[in-house]
Amino acid sequence: MPGTTSIRLIEPADAAPIAEHRLRDVEAFRPWEPAQPASFYTARGQAERIDGLLDAHKSGTLWPGVVLAGEEVIGQVTVGGILPQPHLRRGSLGYWIAGNAQNQGHAGRAVALALEVMRDVLKLRRAEASTNLENLPSQRVLRRNGFSPYGVAHSTILLDGTWRDSLLWERILGD
Ligand SMILES: CC(C)(COP(=O)(O)OP(=O)(O)OC[C@H]1O[C@@H](n2cnc3c(N)ncnc32)[C@H](O)[C@@H]1OP(=O)(O)O)[C@@H](O)C(=O)NCCC(=O)NCCS
Repeated sequence: MPGTTSIRLIEPADAAPIAEHRLRDVEAFRPWEPAQPASFYTARGQAERIDGLLDAHKSGTLWPGVVLAGEEVIGQVTVGGILPQPHLRRGSLGYWIAGNAQNQGHAGRAVALALEVMRDVLKLRRAEASTNLENLPSQRVLRRNGFSPYGVAHSTILLDGTWRDSLLWERILGD
């Protein structure tokens, strides 16, 4: 159903649509997402990856989600680097939306829903994210969700063969 967006924990059956999207978008994502091995673009490789994500979820360090438009998996939203200790309570958001579903507000709504999970389910106080300095759509998604930029980290990620800087974002979630 176009226009509706939901998120849920990733499942083994999400491997096939994720591999299909990432294979179709490999060129479009090259400036924004790190290079991946060939297995990343197969359902079997994604199924192994999902097993690892669910193991990390069990250990409490990761909340690996998928983004749905109606019933269809169109992307991922992940809370990573979770520090649940009472004196830290923070995590870092990452996301992607398949090219054929972009610019319809899905990432903006998925991030809003992920912030609810971070606050209400994971009981975190602080959300962090990082974007490429040129990734204006991703920056719009964060601004629309109350994030503010607070600095630049240098040479943080190898993208398309070049070490790139990251713009760092924060949003306080409250108690
Ligand atoms: C970034 C990404 C997640 C956005 O997903 P999306 O579902 O298209 O996002 P939304 O539709 O919710 O919002 C996109 C915003 O970018 C804006 N936008 C789109 N193209 C733009 C451009 N070239 N320049 C500036 N803004 C642009 C849209 O107008 C919208 O802003 P608005 O809400 O103020 O109107 C998606 O493009 C993506 O997965 N890209 C590749 C991977 C990636 O960049 N991941 C994030 C790494 S930090």
